[in-house]
Amino acid sequence: MAANWKMFKTPAETKTFFASFLPLVKDTTGCEVAICAPFVDLPEAVSAAAGSAVMIGGQNLYWAKEGAFTGEISGPMLKALGCTWVIVGHSERRQYFGETDETVLRRTKAAMEAGLKVIVCVGELLSEREAGETEAVLRKQFEGGIAGLTAAEFAGIVIAYEPVWAIGTGKTATPEMAAEAHRVIRGLAAERFGGAEVRILYGGSVKPDNVKALMAQEEIDGALVGGASLDAASFAQIVNFAS
Ligand code: 13P
Repeated sequence: MAANWKMFKTPAETKTFFASFLPLVKDTTGCEVAICAPFVDLPEAVSAAAGSAVMIGGQNLYWAKEGAFTGEISGPMLKALGCTWVIVGHSERRQYFGETDETVLRRTKAAMEAGLKVIVCVGELLSEREAGETEAVLRKQFEGGIAGLTAAEFAGIVIAYEPVWAIGTGKTATPEMAAEAHRVIRGLAAERFGGAEVRILYGGSVKPDNVKALMAQEEIDGALVGGASLDAASFAQIVNFAS
């Protein structure tokens, strides 16, 4: 279960979140938990989560290790801070910051090289779903952004299927719709990497009251949660969905 805080929370708010959240998940088993926070919150998040099973991640990285790239953050920098994970290719980065399948691949490789695990995001726009292009879009994103990994690199990623029309809109894909897209992605992975197993998270308006139905689908291995991850109690309910 991964939280994507997007551009929310200050370091002080991060500290408050962890003080409430950690006691609520201290007995959780059978589920990895990661919180992907804004860069400025990462030191606070790493120190607050120390000694717990909760892992911390960034939401983006640049592919060079260091250099004259004003405003950018590298994989080794995230790693040095104590991050375990990083999100790559989120639809908001594709939409507002020019992310392409090619840059997704470059960032993913750089993250792996730095020893980070990567959540690679894919998903179609509403117009693409309505035009019956969901499968073609997933194929294009997979082939351009994931298929270029080596088998060893592929083993270090988790894929997040996030239909763009379901992000922050309160419109969740039905569990069946999500499972169908996950099957498509799994098929693409099998085509390219043989029998390789990969975890696939669903993202898009996941809330405490719909997580159970989504997780009941065999194809859905976890969730990437935006809005509902900002509140400690609500993200803990999602993490503890099974109990
Ligand atoms: P919401 O849960 O707010 O819809 O956001 C989903 C998302 O984009 C997670 O990366």
